[in-house]
Amino acid sequence: MDKINLKPAKRLKGTIQLKGDKSISHRAVMIASIAEGRSNIKNFPKSEDCLATVMAFQKLGVDIDFSGDEVIVVGKGLRGLRKPEGNIYLGNSGTSMRLISGVLAGQNFDSTLTGDESLSKRPMDRIIMPLRQMGADITGREDRYAPLVIKGGVLNPIKYKTDVPSAQVKSALIFAALYADGPSEISEPLKSRDHTERLLSLFGAKMIIEDLNIAVCNDPDLKGKDITVPGDVSSAAFFIVGALILGGSEIVIKDLLFNRTRFGIMDVLKDMGADINVEKKRFNGFEETCDLIVNASELKGVKVGRDLIPSIIDELPVLLVAALFAQGDTTIEGAGELRVKETDRIASMTEALTRMGADISVKGDDICVRGQVPLRGAKLDSLGDHRTAMSLAIASLAADGECEIKGIECVNTSLPDFFKFLDSLRR
Ligand code: S3P
Repeated sequence: MDKINLKPAKRLKGTIQLKGDKSISHRAVMIASIAEGRSNIKNFPKSEDCLATVMAFQKLGVDIDFSGDEVIVVGKGLRGLRKPEGNIYLGNSGTSMRLISGVLAGQNFDSTLTGDESLSKRPMDRIIMPLRQMGADITGREDRYAPLVIKGGVLNPIKYKTDVPSAQVKSALIFAALYADGPSEISEPLKSRDHTERLLSLFGAKMIIEDLNIAVCNDPDLKGKDITVPGDVSSAAFFIVGALILGGSEIVIKDLLFNRTRFGIMDVLKDMGADINVEKKRFNGFEETCDLIVNASELKGVKVGRDLIPSIIDELPVLLVAALFAQGDTTIEGAGELRVKETDRIASMTEALTRMGADISVKGDDICVRGQVPLRGAKLDSLGDHRTAMSLAIASLAADGECEIKGIECVNTSLPDFFKFLDSLRR
């Protein structure tokens, strides 16, 4: 049955090691597929989103096999993909759809991208419009939503500044720029995650990155590589917050991604007084990794400004949970992008947490959470959103009674082992 009953937990204790970061894993498969030769991608997560990317490139003629937690990709080179038979179905995965669009716009064949109900309601005009400026022939339902019909062809170089600080939009354009008939320049208003830039450079693309600007050379020689994907920092955030709010907790998360564009959550939690220590920082060839030690902490409310939003976008739901246990109010400004995720996460989180007794007010895109209002057991619904489901599970651990959460199978989207990890840590 697609629901779970969760009893309060005393504390979290133990060590975990998470499968590879979802954002990096998508990109690794995409780049390995358009590189020449073989790539071995270790610590690849078998989450539904990442598998959607694998299946898409298999459909585009790339040989991709699994061996344990390793994915072996025999790339076809930049221009070696083949016309897919039928539509490419991308399930729930916004990253797959937006990034692949950049690749497909430059092919010499046509393709159609489809997704599940939630993905079909998410805005795609943010990639349709700039890709059209490059000469791409791409259309969507109401010019905005999937299915996307992409007629591959010659692309012009572009000089473009994204209006939303979105790594997905930036990355779609970087991919398309590889196929353009001249160099492109892409810039963003605030720094979003930079995994596309790091991985493409590793595989041999020529890019000059200066702060918020990226110059991309077209027609790179991409060569297969062997890489290990660092542990998923967005998944780690759930256990980190769980450990912080349950007195007496102490957890260790090994081999975790350490990347400034993704570590905003650690900065905010540390500002709140969290006892989080980064140890054994090391470079793995394209990203830094670390071990993280987290101890239960007395948190205090903070103000989170809009400039921080891109680096904490996926962790905001669980940050709301941390804020419930802080002394004083926490305010988060300019969180509007949360409304266009797998659900409207401002609505799904406030609705569920309010049922538990939380006091959260929303004005426009700003959120204010009152700290230290006791939470009670309640019947909750994730509305099929994986990060909402996992955030609510963490909140349930610290409630004063049992919670029932409906819609938990969606954790498979990003972290199929979420409840296994939780069981292994709860004491
Ligand atoms: C992602 C970028 C973010 C994030 C998503 C993954 C990526 O989306 O929310 O989960 O891998 O590029 P936006 O680019 O829409 O902010």
